[in-house]
Amino acid sequence: MARDAKTLWVRTPTARYPVWVGAGLLAQSGRRLKRLRPRCRQVFVISSPRVWKLWGARLSVGLRAARISAEVLLMNDREEAKRLMTVERLAEKLLARGADRGALLVAFGGGVVGDVTGFLAASYMRGVDYIQVPTTLVAQVDSAIGGKAGVNLRGGKNLLGAFHHPLAVLADVRALDTLPAREYRAGLYEVVKCAVLGDSALFRFLERNMPAVLARQPRALRTALAHALRVKARIVGRDVHERGERRLLNLGHTFGHAFETLSGYLGLRHGEAVGWGIVAATQLSHRLGLLPERDARRILRVVASVGRLPPLPSAKPERVHAQLFADKKKAGKQLRFVLPRRIGRAEVVAGVPRSALVATLGELGSRL
Ligand SMILES: NC(=O)c1ccc[n+]([C@@H]2O[C@H](COP(=O)([O-])OP(=O)(O)OC[C@H]3O[C@@H](n4cnc5c(N)ncnc54)[C@H](O)[C@@H]3O)[C@@H](O)[C@H]2O)c1
Ligand SMILES: [Zn+2]
Repeated sequence: MARDAKTLWVRTPTARYPVWVGAGLLAQSGRRLKRLRPRCRQVFVISSPRVWKLWGARLSVGLRAARISAEVLLMNDREEAKRLMTVERLAEKLLARGADRGALLVAFGGGVVGDVTGFLAASYMRGVDYIQVPTTLVAQVDSAIGGKAGVNLRGGKNLLGAFHHPLAVLADVRALDTLPAREYRAGLYEVVKCAVLGDSALFRFLERNMPAVLARQPRALRTALAHALRVKARIVGRDVHERGERRLLNLGHTFGHAFETLSGYLGLRHGEAVGWGIVAATQLSHRLGLLPERDARRILRVVASVGRLPPLPSAKPERVHAQLFADKKKAGKQLRFVLPRRIGRAEVVAGVPRSALVATLGELGSRL
C-alpha cells in the first residue's frame, strides 16, 4: 500500500467507512476493495465515456491485480442526464446482467455519476453496496462522502433521493490531473469553504501553499483534501440528516444558489457561485459585527488567491435579495445564513436585516 495514502473514517450512527486519499490509488483499488469485501462476485463499474476513456485503464489494472473482474456500464454524466430515467436504464442493465442483492457498484466519475450510482445502489433490489471512486475535485471533497444521493426533477435539483452510505471512498488525486483548469479551480472554493468553517490549520495551509495546490502537486493536494474531508466527515458523522450542524457545510451556498439561479446555471459554475457566496457571507458577517476585520481580510485574500472569479450575473441587489427569499418562501421557511465568526468557525444566523443584506450585495461590486 502506498505509504503516503491517508485514511480517514466517516462514522455515523448507522455506518462507518474509510475514505482513502492519495496519489496513484486507482492502481490499488482492487486490493483495498478486497480487504473490505473479500468475496467480490459481481462488480459493476458505473462511469461516463469521458472518465472511462481517461482513467478506465488505471482502474481496470487495479481491479484485475486483485482478480476482480468487473463489468462496465457507461452513462451520460451531463447534469441534464441526472434524472430518474438514467437510474432506470442502469437498473435494467444490471438486471439483464444478472446482478442480485450481492452486487457491488463502483461509482467512477464526478458528482453526477456519484449521485446517480448512489441512488441506484440505494434502490436496486432495495439496496446494494457501492463504493465511490470520485474523479473531480468537487466529488472528492464533497459529493462522494456523506451518503446523499439522488437525481433532479424538472422543478429542482436533487429532489428525488436517498441517504445511502458507500462502503468506502477512494480518492486518487492523480485523477484530477486531467480536469480542465476552470473545473479544478471551481472545486477549490469548496476546499476553502471547509477551511473557513471548520479548520484554521487548513486555512493557514492554503494561505501558504495555494500555488502548489493550484499546480496540483500531489502532496499539497493530498494534505488539503484530507483536511477538508476531515471537516466534512466530522460534521456528517454528527448530523447525517442535515437537521443541525450539517447546515454549516452550506457556507457560501445560500448566496451561491441565488447567484447560480440568476446566472441561469450557465455563466457560473457551482463552485464559482460558492466562491462569490463565501465573499458575500464574509462581508455580511463583518458588517453585522460578527467577524473581526482581520479575519475577513484573510478570507477574502484566500478566495482571491484561487483565481479571478467570473463576473456575477448583472442583477440589482434587490433582485438578488428577492431570489434569496424565493426558495425559502416556497417552503415557508426562514432565511438562514452560515456566517464565519472567525477563521475555522462558522455559525447559522437567522433574522439578518434586509438593509444589511442589500448593502452587502451592493458592496460585492459594480457588476451586481
Ligand atoms: N451528494 C452530494 O452531497 C453532492 C455534493 C456536491 C455536489 N453534488 C452534485 O455533484 C454534481 C457536480 O459534480 P462535479 O462537479 O463533480 O461535476 P460532473 O460530475 O458534472 O463532472 C464535470 C465534468 O468533468 C468530467 N470529468 C470527471 N472527471 C474527470 C477527470 N478526472 N478528468 C477530466 N474530466 C473529468 C465529467 O465527464 C464532466 O464532463 C452536481 O449534480 C451536484 O448536485 C452532490
Ligand atoms: Zn457546493
